[in-house]
Amino acid sequence: MASVPSLAATVRRRVAEALSAALPEAASADPLLRRSDRADFQANGMLALAKKLKGNPRELAAKVVESLPGESGDGDAVIAGIEVSGPGFLNITVADEAITRTLAARAADERLGVPYAEAPGTTVIDYSQPNVAKEMHVGHLRSTVIGDAIVRILEHRGEKVIRRHHIGDWGTQFGMLIQYLIEHPHELDHTAEGGDGESGEAAMSRLNRLYKASRALFDSDEGFKQRARDRVVLLQSGDETTLEMWRKIVGESMIYFHAVYDQLDVEIRDEDVVGESAYNDDLQQVVKDLESSGVAVRSEGALCVFFDDVKGPDGKPVPLIVQKSNGGFGYAATDLAAIRDRVGKLGADTLLYVVDARQALHFKMVFETARRAGWLPEGAARQLAFGTVLGKDGKPFKTREGETVRLVDLLNEAVERATAVVREKAEQGGAELTGEEIAERGAQVGIGAVKYADLSTSMSRDYVFDLDRMVSLNGDTSVYLQYAYARIQSILRKAGDARPVAHPELPLAPAERALGLHLDEFAETLEGVAETYEPHKLAAYLYQLASHYTTFYDQCPVLKAGDGATVENRLFLCDLTARTLHQGMALLGIRTPERL
Ligand code: ARG
Repeated sequence: MASVPSLAATVRRRVAEALSAALPEAASADPLLRRSDRADFQANGMLALAKKLKGNPRELAAKVVESLPGESGDGDAVIAGIEVSGPGFLNITVADEAITRTLAARAADERLGVPYAEAPGTTVIDYSQPNVAKEMHVGHLRSTVIGDAIVRILEHRGEKVIRRHHIGDWGTQFGMLIQYLIEHPHELDHTAEGGDGESGEAAMSRLNRLYKASRALFDSDEGFKQRARDRVVLLQSGDETTLEMWRKIVGESMIYFHAVYDQLDVEIRDEDVVGESAYNDDLQQVVKDLESSGVAVRSEGALCVFFDDVKGPDGKPVPLIVQKSNGGFGYAATDLAAIRDRVGKLGADTLLYVVDARQALHFKMVFETARRAGWLPEGAARQLAFGTVLGKDGKPFKTREGETVRLVDLLNEAVERATAVVREKAEQGGAELTGEEIAERGAQVGIGAVKYADLSTSMSRDYVFDLDRMVSLNGDTSVYLQYAYARIQSILRKAGDARPVAHPELPLAPAERALGLHLDEFAETLEGVAETYEPHKLAAYLYQLASHYTTFYDQCPVLKAGDGATVENRLFLCDLTARTLHQGMALLGIRTPERL
């Protein structure tokens, strides 16, 4: 379906045309149009332009007004009023009719008039990368939630998106786990703890047990330590018995990860889980190529890459270590192999890494190394670095005992709190929800609250994990947005025979205009969000939308508006608001229940 030009785009174009008619030297100058409180839009471009051409800005602005071709009077007039103000601004009011017509065109399109990107490319996005045999924590929550939203936003624009979950499934710690499992073959048996042997919790507790037991032995028994080290060599050389045990451990972790993903309402497909192990066979070649091209050099036995601007506190350069002096490969070598694969084989033109900001130096060095090696075009890779989740004390989020908070515990608590809110609201409002419905909505509200709290702050910032605030009905929360959506659905259900129909001939009340103009900004907001990878701007847009809707709802009766055309037009605004909220929330990965 066709994309719909926004009112802002139309006004911008018309003012730009008038500007170049008034002043041929100004052809292609930007009128610098923005939304304004005084009128609908303000154009500030005349100021700088007049200054540059040594003219008078107010005179130039007046000429632009004169040059606007017959706006008033003709049928599709968009600009209803334009006047020069201040030192040479233009204050522009658009016609009510134009607002309703534009919104009607959006409503007629299933994409709400949002265009596809003109030249979509291929993006590989590395996100949600938990570590095998370990618990998921809030850092993995951030990567998963932000990554999922960005995938949805980019795909919505028509971008080809390849997901890569670079899980930590390789490395020396597996020698210890596998060796223990070989010596204690029943350690991961599913039947050991009775009924729910297949659940994520059970899988994780088996892994925890394995981890603790093997660690204890590793630390106390020199013989075991040696056998564990030998096991790493067998793993890397592809020994079948060793690999079989390794697969068992990875499989157990996948049960656990999927249970968390299910609860988080995020779809992670097995074919996209391409962990560190997948690059094992390429590491030797990566090292060879880096060494022969001179990008990496031997230093104290290790293969290193040096950077002029990366130095330690002692002033000595800090290298990226591609191969350790004992011949082992680490995290960096794997990331370099992954870049080669993603650019060379998968054909990516953009690489994104949704990873904790504390790994910024690692990625800076890895990207620069890959660029020097000719594997990565300049500027093609970017870390979407996120900040730390803090506790209420402002310190990194920990349990009272100082341990990492388990993601599952957090999610369970969020769902519990949200369920209480949903139940209480339902009782107050006299809504008849069954126990099952309350549980389902509690989950959608609770998980939505956690996701929204994360996505509504700029990702580079730290934020405080505060469940009380997250599930609050007031303020910038997903619950507030979900209630706005559900309230509209309830009005639409009560409308009986009255249907949402746009009536461009009707004058609009101030709250209707404000809501309408904001609805019209959806497409441009999404475009900006996709270009800068900033989901928080979509969240902010949706919050403002719900706020505009609340004002509209307070000031403009819908079903009791009296006149039939007004009822239809207001239902139309309600319906478009609901569809926009639904679409926007879906792009953030958050559900909008029909009833709450
Ligand atoms: N598994 C790592 C962690 O939990 C994150 C991996 C990030 N991705 C990457 N390509 N290095 O910290």
